[in-house]
Amino acid sequence: MSEVVSYALEGDVAVITVDNPPVNALSLPVRRGLAQCVERFAADASAKAAVLFCAGRTFIAGADITEFDKPIEEPWLPKVVHQMEDCVKPIVAAIHGTALGGGLETAMACHYRVAVDTAQVGLPEVTLGLLPGATGTQRLPRLAGVQAALDAMISGKPMPAKIAHEKGIIDALVDGELKAGAVKFAKALVNEGKGPRKVRDIKIDAASLPATFFADYRKSMAREARGFFAPEQIVKCVEAAVALPYFDAVARENALFMECMASTQSKAQRHMFFAEREVAKVPDVPKDTAMRAIKQVAVIGGGTMGGGIAMNFANVGIPVLVKEINQEALDRGMNIIRANYEGTVKKSKLTQAQMDKCMALITPTLDYNAIGDADLVIEAVFETMSVKKEVFEKLDTVCKPGAILASNTSSLNVDEIAAFTKRPQDVIGLHFFAPANVMTLLEIVRGAKTSKEVIATCMTLAKTIRKIGALVRVCFGFVGNRMYFPYVREAQRMMLEGVAPERLDRVAHEWGMAMGPHAVSDLSGLDVFDKLNKEWKDKPNDPSYCRMIGVLVSKGRLGQKSGAGIYKYEGRNAVPDPEVTALAKAEAAALNIPQLEVTDTEIIERLFYAMINEGALILEEGIAMRPSDIDVVYCHGYGMPRHRGGPMQYADTVGLDRVYQAMQKYRTRYGDLYWTPAPLIEKLVKAGKTFEQWSSDRA
Ligand code: 3HC
Repeated sequence: MSEVVSYALEGDVAVITVDNPPVNALSLPVRRGLAQCVERFAADASAKAAVLFCAGRTFIAGADITEFDKPIEEPWLPKVVHQMEDCVKPIVAAIHGTALGGGLETAMACHYRVAVDTAQVGLPEVTLGLLPGATGTQRLPRLAGVQAALDAMISGKPMPAKIAHEKGIIDALVDGELKAGAVKFAKALVNEGKGPRKVRDIKIDAASLPATFFADYRKSMAREARGFFAPEQIVKCVEAAVALPYFDAVARENALFMECMASTQSKAQRHMFFAEREVAKVPDVPKDTAMRAIKQVAVIGGGTMGGGIAMNFANVGIPVLVKEINQEALDRGMNIIRANYEGTVKKSKLTQAQMDKCMALITPTLDYNAIGDADLVIEAVFETMSVKKEVFEKLDTVCKPGAILASNTSSLNVDEIAAFTKRPQDVIGLHFFAPANVMTLLEIVRGAKTSKEVIATCMTLAKTIRKIGALVRVCFGFVGNRMYFPYVREAQRMMLEGVAPERLDRVAHEWGMAMGPHAVSDLSGLDVFDKLNKEWKDKPNDPSYCRMIGVLVSKGRLGQKSGAGIYKYEGRNAVPDPEVTALAKAEAAALNIPQLEVTDTEIIERLFYAMINEGALILEEGIAMRPSDIDVVYCHGYGMPRHRGGPMQYADTVGLDRVYQAMQKYRTRYGDLYWTPAPLIEKLVKAGKTFEQWSSDRA
């Protein structure tokens, strides 16, 4: 018998137990074991019914994603689930934890489903660029209805057992111990003479669907699904479920699943799945490193950033003080926080009671001494070293020993900041991304002297406040902004070369970016970039470098906030401005920069290869631990679409040799300053390797 799936009798009920830690994924041994156990159950005259149960923390959480890059070995999951469904004696799935993907598909092939009320069920394949490929697209519409099934599969979001019960996905909720409850349920079936029920026999009520149902559904998901391949494939499967006999529709599901599997999008999204887990692992900070308790937080600076940071803590029940320098600033800050929460309440994403609870956890103060007991203090003041100095010297005098002193700087030297205190081991960078209460990325910047305890505490804290923490080292701009500078640099240079800002932004948006670089510059404030450029000590010696930002700022065009920047604004609508085009032309003439015919392909290459090259330098310098960490930073902090998998994964997808050749082309045109390929890229091209291979070779 299988090592990961066991068979035992409890009276006349067979209990088939999957035990494949950590999440009981459906690896080959599990599929084989299930097939064997179902066969044994079918042949076992003493067993009248069976329970499918899972050991450990969860029911089957899906197919084994690590197997997707290899040829799939028999028996495939669709075969196993049909074998289960065809069994002539009833099988009951007993669900706890998360029955996801292939896990829920297996449960739906069982004849009955029971669950504890803490369980969740879902079909998250879409998040991996896939569709539920083991009959899930056929079974969920039969159990929950077409609309609910589509909503679940297109969002990929799991639903609590109680809702699944209401929707008919789960037959009964079990109080108390699950296995015993499920066995009792199975015994009752036997006593009542109830046999197997096949989900596939349920008729989908096609007649009740409006004629325009699928067309309307496609329209409704268009925004969320923009650029992604899998959602449309899922809709096609459900159309097949409605229109075709079951086994014909299953064949269609299988064919569409294979297309998803073979897509570069799915590869990129699976890469992201593992990258998001890997990023939490710090080789020199072991899991058992001691941690500090964070029970009280203080934020210095109650501006938009400080307020957003404070909300993160209040949202998870951690009291937070917001310190400002005068009453007016403090009131303004608290009003922004309140307005933010009110907006969320209006959208029904928060109840008034929850908002009140959060607001009660945020205490405004003008007094530095009030923060003396805080376990963590996050500075979110003006981005100038002299201001940081003032704040950190003060923190050093008022904060209790052992308090973590963090800076929200987006670019400045954390070691220099740490040196303003007598406790550099307690100083760390916690770089939140605007809007801080929404964006999921937290760049955690370890200084040369930051203690492991402080790093471990902050990595865990990221999870507590529902962020993805990426640990990086000190350099100007860290990982995210440092790689963003060359991207903006190229966008700016192309403006001088005659590429209309709206065209460049459209091309970047069509590639998948949430917004084009010019629109982002206007949103963040051109003055912010200008100031950053001025703070940057090693700025390239190049008069054309981000030239237009300086020019526009000097004309009072600061971006959205001043009603004009690279675009002009009618309300929040960006409108191309001929004045900017004329300015760019004049600057180009002054700098002897020729007007060029730049293709869409060149726009993409210059924007992203410039960024990738900087990423390669960052890896060589050890600023980021892994290429996949960079990808996490970009997908969570910079609006890069998951289906590209981040810049480094994108480079691997394109092929490093192609990236290298294109860089050489631009090097010939522009010289060595920006386009000298990073030595790591040269090395990998020579070895015929990818960033991913380089990373796993080092692990
Ligand atoms: N395959 C392989 N490994 C998996 C896995 C899976 N389906 N799910 C989780 N793991 C691994 C993780 O990589 C991690 O490994 P690590 O410890 O070495 O980093 C470990 O299991 C624990 O995972 P988490 O850290 O994510 O643990 P959590 O407790 O936070 O979350 C979970 C548990 C909710 C189950 C989460 O892991 C998850 O969402 N898993 C993926 C679920 C999923 O997408 N299933 C669908 C798969 S595709 C499919 O089924 C296709 C089918 O339709 C044919």
